[in-house]
Amino acid sequence: MMARGLAFLLRRSIPKTSEITMEVLATAAEGTAPILADECNDLGLRVVHVRRDGVVLDLNTTSTAKALVHLRVATRLLLALDDVRCRDANDLYGSLKQIDWPRWLDDRHTIAVHATGALPGSPEAPERRGPPARGPAIRNHVFASQRGKDAICDVLRGKFDARPNVDLEDPDVRIVLRFRGDRCGVYLDISGEAMHRRGYRIDAVPAPMKETLAAAAVAIVDWDGTRPLIDPMCGSGTLIIEALMRHLNIAPGLHRDFAIERWPNHGEAVGLLLDKERDAAKEAADAAIANASGLKVIAGDFDRAALRATRTHLERAGLTDLVEVVRHNVRRMDTDLADAVVICNPPYGERIGGSTVTDLYEAMAQRWATLDRADVWVLDGHDDFVSRFGYRPRRSWMLRNGQLHVRWHHFRLTETDRLRGRSEPEVSVDDPAEVDQDPTAAGPVAVEAPEIADVRADEAGAPSP
Ligand SMILES: C[S@@+](CC[C@H](N)C(=O)[O-])C[C@H]1O[C@@H](n2cnc3c(N)ncnc32)[C@H](O)[C@@H]1O
Repeated sequence: MMARGLAFLLRRSIPKTSEITMEVLATAAEGTAPILADECNDLGLRVVHVRRDGVVLDLNTTSTAKALVHLRVATRLLLALDDVRCRDANDLYGSLKQIDWPRWLDDRHTIAVHATGALPGSPEAPERRGPPARGPAIRNHVFASQRGKDAICDVLRGKFDARPNVDLEDPDVRIVLRFRGDRCGVYLDISGEAMHRRGYRIDAVPAPMKETLAAAAVAIVDWDGTRPLIDPMCGSGTLIIEALMRHLNIAPGLHRDFAIERWPNHGEAVGLLLDKERDAAKEAADAAIANASGLKVIAGDFDRAALRATRTHLERAGLTDLVEVVRHNVRRMDTDLADAVVICNPPYGERIGGSTVTDLYEAMAQRWATLDRADVWVLDGHDDFVSRFGYRPRRSWMLRNGQLHVRWHHFRLTETDRLRGRSEPEVSVDDPAEVDQDPTAAGPVAVEAPEIADVRADEAGAPSP
């Protein structure tokens, strides 16, 4: 066993690199990766390629800080360490022991290992190639996390003569294992708490949208501020807040910390860069809010609790003065803003109050019939929405709201857009891979198959005990 003194000396000799380059996976919810790729290109980040579950980026510490503070659609940033073979538990342990963990971890910072995705031999896993597994099966995500943690701790004990403690709740460094059958992507979680947590939303309302999904939706709308913007069923105000933040270029990450700031070796240097990025973003946000003029933005709902939440969130986002919050029933709302941009996420559940949601969809169309110069965007999670609303969408994007597959429809409420009769409408749905990809943008953009079946690493899988 290595003497304690020698281990200390070795630890001291780890370089505190201030500028490192790394391959980073910016994860995205289903259907939003191409939108995220556009965002990355706009920020000048180097896009390596676009996958269904996110965008692979080539970043250094400076551009990592920029990505963390400014990306709106990314759900997490993960540093890609390796992609290893993992046919069975022995394979996994052996492959993980080959990774240079002391470059990133030491014995004084706590860790947690989080496993997710399709385990080898599971029904969701891609078909096995190569020789059959001989060692013990990777039975579940908890077991995978434990074997991963054993391998990492054994490497670190060899180097420092001591192993890091595990802290499942609040680790300094979270290691993420994303399985896709016999292969496993090994990552360090750069962002920590999921990136939809901007910090402005605290009040719970039923069925809120994630901020990252709302950001993707409003990126598609691309509201330019010249026309009134209305969310008549605003819930906690997410769509309106994300639309305003995007329009005013207010960075989503300017009020929060990120996991990488706590990492050994690199945390301090990246923390300084993040402070610089956040300070500049705060200054820019204050100026944008102070100079915003001529905007007409309305958030409405009939539920008092929802409106209270919207007011709280607007205040926390610094946007109170830019938004009119009104209590109205959409069935009787003012419709004098004929050229408005309407964005909304109506309820999908069957009953609200005394009537059904499908009655509500018909009532919305009747009430909005005079908005024939408006662009109307609806997040639809109900099979009968389009037929009951009675208009054919000009274009629709397939997205996912939590576990639910949803469509983000763009309507124009003109006579020619009206559906005739009650038959099932033909809705032409965009392949998300085709959404707004700009071939002239900075990095090469190509779409490849998903890395794992469940692309939302934040919700699936299990931490190691
Ligand atoms: C799915 S939630 C919207 C959630 C919102 N996007 C968010 O992120 O918090 C639907 C909202 O529609 C509102 N709503 C339902 N029927 C309404 C009506 N007839 N008039 C006004 N608001 C209505 C509900 O009160 C609820 O807040």
